Amino acid sequence: MSENNTVEQLSPSGENAHHLVELEHVEKYYGNLHVLRDINLKVDKGEVLVIVGPSGSGKSTMCRTINRLETIDSGVIRIDGQALPQEGKGLAQLRAEVGMVFQSFNLFANKTILENVTLAPIKVRHMDRDQAEKEAMDLLARVGVDSQAMKMPSQLSGGQQQRVAIARSLAMHPKVMLFDEPTSALDPEMVNEVLDVMVELAQEGMTMLCVTHEMGFARKAANKIVFMADGQILERGTPDEFFEHPQTERAQEFLSKILTH
Ligand SMILES: Nc1ncnc2c1ncn2[C@@H]1O[C@H](COP(=O)(O)OP(=O)(O)OP(=O)(O)O)[C@@H](O)[C@H]1O
Ligand SMILES: [Mg+2]
Repeated sequence: MSENNTVEQLSPSGENAHHLVELEHVEKYYGNLHVLRDINLKVDKGEVLVIVGPSGSGKSTMCRTINRLETIDSGVIRIDGQALPQEGKGLAQLRAEVGMVFQSFNLFANKTILENVTLAPIKVRHMDRDQAEKEAMDLLARVGVDSQAMKMPSQLSGGQQQRVAIARSLAMHPKVMLFDEPTSALDPEMVNEVLDVMVELAQEGMTMLCVTHEMGFARKAANKIVFMADGQILERGTPDEFFEHPQTERAQEFLSKILTH
């Protein structure tokens, strides 16, 4: 197929071509609640996956298992062909490959915008400060907030803070970015400035998994939609397939609710 496959097949690990993110037979319980049920998911390099589904269906939990903010009870999760280790240095390294942006911005309140972006590259990647600051300024420019670099997070709007959060994740050069409802805490007029950054990232070839209710974004940027309900993946397909021809009653009902507002 692509050059990419050939390179992967010749990789030193000697493994066959693999997916960038792979979940196989993943199961998770919270006590008696079976929150993830036999989740099987493959995401290739450059793919943009949008995850939708009713509240409580397990979307956030699934995202959080991928960078192991949550453990799983059985199954396997691989990032770039490597199974997520339980703990230790290997886990920290693999976790650094996965950027995550949440609903709340989670910036360090007592550090400047620039420091927020340079902190992990300096501490975790041992990048020298000049280099880290140069890269951070480039990233801040890319998301349109470079003029805010010396301010504190509380001096920025929600949309600006969320764009800083994206820049901060990108500073670690992640192989994949996870977004969990990154715009749902924003005032409506700030939603698009964040979605525009995400669309650009997608167009530049970033591999992305996004939980979002922004169906305009899903149609514009997603290669694939995954529909979850009750801890299961019930449907997967292209945006056209999913939005125009949902197969299950659950998906039809879900779409009729969200598309009427
Ligand atoms: N730490 C936890 N302990 C116990 N139960 C939890 C925990 N986190 C989530 N749950 C439960 O697991 C189920 C899935 O939650 P999850 O947050 O993954 O859903 P979601 O699809 O992201 O929903 P939403 O659209 O509301 O964000 C829910 O029933 C939730 O109450
Ligand atoms: Mg959630």
